[in-house]
Amino acid sequence: MISNSDKILVAGATGGVGQLVVAKLLARDLSVRALTRTRSKAESMFDRKVEIAEGDIRYPNTLLDATTDINYIICCTGTTAFPSLRWDFANLFQPANSPEEVDGEGVKNLVVAAPQDLNRFVFISSCGVLRKDELPYNLLNAFGVLDAKLMGEQAIIASGLPYTIIRPARLIDGPYTSYDLNTLLRAKTDGKKAVKIELGDRLSGETSRIDVANACVEALFHDTTINKDFSMINSGDRPTTTDWLQLFAQL
Ligand SMILES: NC(=O)c1ccc[n+]([C@@H]2O[C@H](COP(=O)([O-])OP(=O)(O)OC[C@H]3O[C@@H](n4cnc5c(N)ncnc54)[C@H](OP(=O)(O)O)[C@@H]3O)[C@@H](O)[C@H]2O)c1
Repeated sequence: MISNSDKILVAGATGGVGQLVVAKLLARDLSVRALTRTRSKAESMFDRKVEIAEGDIRYPNTLLDATTDINYIICCTGTTAFPSLRWDFANLFQPANSPEEVDGEGVKNLVVAAPQDLNRFVFISSCGVLRKDELPYNLLNAFGVLDAKLMGEQAIIASGLPYTIIRPARLIDGPYTSYDLNTLLRAKTDGKKAVKIELGDRLSGETSRIDVANACVEALFHDTTINKDFSMINSGDRPTTTDWLQLFAQL
């Protein structure tokens, strides 16, 4: 079980889910190191309440300092499923920031850089990785995002590190435009729909970024999630409180 002396590396900390993960970890008095490609962006976003490590998961040599003395990794990195400016085509001398390079090779690089005694690698993958021939996932995978996510999953499992793989469906809620940590901490976690999780890759629908971030953090407190992969959506009426112990017990 995680303790306050542990340090958690959040890769993709500046992203929609990543920002919420950082805020939720800090709210639990946990120590965070944020991996970002742009130090200044993370510094202003997190109000200097976290350690910052500058690195790009496409480049293994940029990950060495970032992963030193880390006990947990939560990997929230991602790029667009379809070609966009986020693929950074501008620089012909570096690999595109495409799904293959980020969700596949990049995750592999992070796994290799992880300490051997890491307590857990939590990875945000995607619904559909095991259903790539079915609608709508065959369309979503037109540029290989599900192939790449599966490559990332397989690298994590093959590493022998304890892991939790979370497969959300289409993300809703956020990301929040506010760069103020307090604003993030006030982000509402009481959306209208309940959290539903299921082992494997059988659910489809929509998933709240807030609940994906909740699941990433709650997983660290529940050992039933160790070496489990599950899909996650929001559906049905939301109870007053989400009982993560009970949800994870299904796994
Ligand atoms: N969108 C969906 O419907 C959907 C569905 C299923 C699963 N997912 C997955 O859910 C997760 C969270 O999604 P989101 O929308 O919250 O993500 P997001 O806002 O797009 O954030 C992506 C993060 O990845 C970082 N990143 C991108 N390329 C990187 C690289 N080469 N090296 C290091 N960091 C890099 C970005 O950092 P910079 O600030 O440096 O750009 C950013 O912090 C992602 O893994 C995504 O693939 C999304």
